[in-house]
Amino acid sequence: MSATDTSRKPQRPYVLGIETSCDETAAAIVSADRQILAHRVLSQIDDHAEFGGVVPEIAARQHITHLDKLLNSLMEDAGLGFDDMDGIAATTGPGLVGGLMVGVMTAKAIAAASGKPFIAVNHLAGHALTVRLVEEVSFPYLLLLVSGGHCQILSVTGIDSFRRLGSTIDDAAGEAFDKTAKLLGLGYPGGPKVEAEAALGYAARFKLPKPMVGKPGCDFSFSGLKTAVRRLAEECVEKEGILTKSDRADICAAFQKTVGDCMIDRLKRGIALFRDEVGNGTFPLVVAGGVAANSYLRGRIEKLATEHNLRFSAPPLDLCTDNGAMIAWAGLERLRANPDIDDRDEAPRPRWPLDTDAKPMVGKGKKGAKV
Ligand code: KG4
Ligand code: ZN
Repeated sequence: MSATDTSRKPQRPYVLGIETSCDETAAAIVSADRQILAHRVLSQIDDHAEFGGVVPEIAARQHITHLDKLLNSLMEDAGLGFDDMDGIAATTGPGLVGGLMVGVMTAKAIAAASGKPFIAVNHLAGHALTVRLVEEVSFPYLLLLVSGGHCQILSVTGIDSFRRLGSTIDDAAGEAFDKTAKLLGLGYPGGPKVEAEAALGYAARFKLPKPMVGKPGCDFSFSGLKTAVRRLAEECVEKEGILTKSDRADICAAFQKTVGDCMIDRLKRGIALFRDEVGNGTFPLVVAGGVAANSYLRGRIEKLATEHNLRFSAPPLDLCTDNGAMIAWAGLERLRANPDIDDRDEAPRPRWPLDTDAKPMVGKGKKGAKV
């Protein structure tokens, strides 16, 4: 987690944020002047590794087991009590419902006992607003939100104002990394493993399809890429009897480069669309979510921003993947905008799109839009 400058006296409000939507039990306290007063992230990677992905029941059980202790340690780290907080925020969706229930019920109980408001936070808004915790980034900005469950280009014009310009029509970017890692036997979670392998590989050895590149709009597609990776791996095995270390590294490098090519193509279109929306002025180009922890992809997007005379902003690597500070910060932004906020009647929402007017691209089920 990013270093906290504890030399300044933090300014109120202070908000406690709890994140339990997937496989990280996390909590943090942030202050209005962008200090992280305490933070804890407990990863469940080892609990899910043998299954090659997150098992919802195991995740919920681990959150129940660890959240209380994690919160006690967090408050000790900060030297503060729940009574010192000005608001208690928790991820209320989207995510795995069992985990969401643990975080939301705990946060509501703390809020009720300490007489502080409960603040319901959309996990994606948490990712989207994290840059503002780290540096002065004002609205409007163009956001590429890339995580395990999402891949979207969004126009962000306020803390609660998101317009989806593009989205994946099938797999999310992180999902593509995770599936590639799984089929190459690299384990879980795939993103960092594929990135490490790719650094050893030669991307130009293989040519992979670039779904959606050149198409109008700025939607993404990654499921074809995953199938192409599988075929490549099978071809290598057919030729050589095994998948050698260099095959694996070269496939990862080619895969990562192709994801980068797709992102750059789609972002170029997103920039043009956003320019039309906000006039000809400049705006920050922001990338957030777990996949934004990929240094190669960050580098390419930063270069794109420079070429378009746009300021590039991204959270530090440890604030890209799920954490409590992003939820505390989004909660703080909501509390600041509405000091009378009271979300105690909000229930966990497994699906909760940022842009509620956008048509669902994936998961058009009864429960509403997934992406
Ligand atoms: O934001 P996040 O922690 O959780 C969700 O909200 O989904 O994102 C997790 C995703 C996983 O798919 C993981 O493989 C991916 O982010 N990820 C990465 C990297 N680190 C995490 N993908 C590519 N390169 C990385 N270094
Ligand atoms: Zn996330």
